[in-house]
Amino acid sequence: MSIDIRSLVDHKNGLIDRRIFWDDAIYQQELKQVFARCWHFVAHESQVKSFGDFITTYIGEDAVIVARAKDKSINVMLNACPHRGNKVCFAGEGKIRSFVCNYHGWAFGLDGALNGMPANELYDQTEGFKKEDWGLHRARVETYKGLVFATFDEEAPSLGEYLGDFRWYLDAILDVDDKGTEFLPGTTRSLLKCNWKYPADNFVGDIYHALWTHLGAAEATLKEAGGIVVSNENSYQASVNGHGWEFSLANNFGNAATMGDKDIIKYLRAREAEITKRLGEARGKMLGSVASGLIFPNFAFLPGYLTFRTFLPKGPTETELHSWTLVPSEASDEIKDKWRLGAMRTFSPSGILEMDDGENWEHATLGNAGYVTRNQKLFYGMDPTKGEAVPVDLPGTVTKGQLNDANQRLFFKRYAEFMEADSWADIPLAETKY
Ligand code: FES
Ligand code: FE
Repeated sequence: MSIDIRSLVDHKNGLIDRRIFWDDAIYQQELKQVFARCWHFVAHESQVKSFGDFITTYIGEDAVIVARAKDKSINVMLNACPHRGNKVCFAGEGKIRSFVCNYHGWAFGLDGALNGMPANELYDQTEGFKKEDWGLHRARVETYKGLVFATFDEEAPSLGEYLGDFRWYLDAILDVDDKGTEFLPGTTRSLLKCNWKYPADNFVGDIYHALWTHLGAAEATLKEAGGIVVSNENSYQASVNGHGWEFSLANNFGNAATMGDKDIIKYLRAREAEITKRLGEARGKMLGSVASGLIFPNFAFLPGYLTFRTFLPKGPTETELHSWTLVPSEASDEIKDKWRLGAMRTFSPSGILEMDDGENWEHATLGNAGYVTRNQKLFYGMDPTKGEAVPVDLPGTVTKGQLNDANQRLFFKRYAEFMEADSWADIPLAETKY
């Protein structure tokens, strides 16, 4: 029996029931209704540049392999052998010619096709067995400006429709020049004892926490660069299909780049005019603002810090965080390395800002062990700019002021739509204009 999510998620009034961050039946429904349906970020193209390159990750709790085949195609398939179900690949990333299962030795190509197995002749003598029916189960794959996405849902709309006009915002990071972007080598992995929706709602629109949670770290490190400047002046939240971005148009370069690094700020300043010419004034200004964003349901980024991360669920109270540093390909090695160092010092497991966040999400989750605690509501109703006209013409549902729970309510509205839908036919998509 499915759970009545609408009674737990009152996004209109900003009242969210704590049980959605704890209950295992709700979590099982999320795996089916949200994770098995959405498009998910699985890799940056730069991570699987040539034949044989692969990385492993998860879509929901389904382990997947992302691999570049000989014909240059990028393939995403279940990391699960169709013979007796063993995991096929145990490495996080690498280069390989084929995946051979440890158990009985079935061998799969980089496109997931079953190429052979020990004692092949036994299968040749087996009536009705066809190798082409028993490859690794494949997902649909599409890319957007270097980012590789996959879904196991045959009915899902195209990636373009799924992202909708959120692409306009993404271009402010992914399309600033003709050379594109890349991930610096390596994946940072850490485990948090929190429900995956805490980091997701934090990145979709909770800059509010930076004023308090990150105050000490910002004072200690960013003082010279002006600290973390967050206000509702000239700042907005935008939401499209549950994806969200909060940003300032104040062009405050002081804290835009990682840790206020002077050389990165100089680099960005030097590019400002060309980027503004390419993308227009608004996105030229976003370059220099503190901002965060989320692609529904669990792929987040901080443009200033250029950290990209996925919040992979491991049960209702655990989340595996994978993160990377994205850089413009045209930047010098010196600038790229400064970005890497900055991201490590701020948003890595040892980073001063990430540690602050993780502790909050864990305690917010684990408190729900208490029966009375978990039956309380959480307040998501902050709405200081209600009804105020937005003086800018930008894509999506745009709300004035970053210090506002608007994007988080729209995230939970989307979450409820997925949780209640029988199929993609019941899930609305915003009209695209850009
Ligand atoms: Fe993989 Fe048997 S389980 S070859
Ligand atoms: Fe934070």
